Amino acid sequence: MFPTTFTDWAIAKYTGVGDTVVDPFAGRGSAMFSAAIKGRSAIGVDINPLGYVYANAKLKPARLEAVTAKLEFLAENAGRYRTDADALPAFFHHCYSPKVCEFLLAARRNLDWRRANADRVLMALVLISLHGKQGRALSNQMRQSTAMAPDYCIRWWHEREMEPPEVDLVAFLQRRIGWRYVHGTPQAGKAAVYLGDSRQQLSRFVREVEDGKRTKARLLITSPPYLGVTNYYYDQWLRLWLLGGPMRPNANVSNHYGGKFGNESRYRALLDQVFRKCRRLLADDAVIYVRTDQRESTYRNTKATLESVFPEKRIVEQSRPLPAQCQTKAYSRGGAPKRANCEIDLILEPR
Ligand SMILES: C[S@@+](CC[C@H](N)C(=O)[O-])C[C@H]1O[C@@H](n2cnc3c(N)ncnc32)[C@H](O)[C@@H]1O
Repeated sequence: MFPTTFTDWAIAKYTGVGDTVVDPFAGRGSAMFSAAIKGRSAIGVDINPLGYVYANAKLKPARLEAVTAKLEFLAENAGRYRTDADALPAFFHHCYSPKVCEFLLAARRNLDWRRANADRVLMALVLISLHGKQGRALSNQMRQSTAMAPDYCIRWWHEREMEPPEVDLVAFLQRRIGWRYVHGTPQAGKAAVYLGDSRQQLSRFVREVEDGKRTKARLLITSPPYLGVTNYYYDQWLRLWLLGGPMRPNANVSNHYGGKFGNESRYRALLDQVFRKCRRLLADDAVIYVRTDQRESTYRNTKATLESVFPEKRIVEQSRPLPAQCQTKAYSRGGAPKRANCEIDLILEPR
């Protein structure tokens, strides 16, 4: 995830109030949020519903009372899901207490996270509590960043005789809601992250620009997936279940999210198609700011794609010192990344 210090800086440096900013791989919408609170318009797209929920929970905050009312509704109605909870796969019974299973099913069935702001905010708060360290999450002890394979988890808990915690759901989530709203709600402007594949989703904005109904964007700021590093489905399968996905990790679903972006020519084609579509949204003097992986294959493909799509721009490269979190570090199973510097910024400016 982009640090907000970086997105705040980039938005202030490259855009003015009223300008439009685009991020075709928006993730949790950090760049879109920085743009919105600084009075810019923002168009973000992400194929993963988790990004959509987290980003729009920030961009379209709901009233505190509406979120609390929804929580109370779920708590009151959770008991109706007892039979469905009993029928969940074994993983869930080792991971959550029976009451938590019922509550999660109530949330899964009743929260309209695609359309209703309060439902989306509550869903985001349940999602960030879904698994993690005991006392800080609803689950049996689990690593925070990724959802592990179900059989592995069951064995791990069994060996350590670990049971799922009993959680007072309303009190637990009330604390989360209070923490989220402690500084009030930010006045985000005209900004949203749309759910879908950028290769299709961006078409409507291109049409609006070409019909003169939308002004061209001044800044494209993005961090595309890295070649062969992260599988955005497997690492998040449990959270995606809560959003309506299958109750076990599923290879077919994984492909929908791009798998691990392991095939070089398909990866290159994705970047090429997305950046070409973005080009049609951008003003002639727009800046393109791409943060990517410094390792050879991702770097080479990204740079070559940018040179081919924006031949009139000059590229400035800036190596990033090791950040606190980056895709490589957060997700690599093999410990520390091979290189000390794992990210690089490619900045394309008018010559
Ligand atoms: C490195 S992450 C972006 C993180 C983001 N900068 C943030 O601050 O959260 C790359 C994102 O690209 C998304 N993605 C991959 N393929 C996509 C596609 N075809 N269309 C839209 N988004 C896609 C992934 O779901 C992932 O969220």
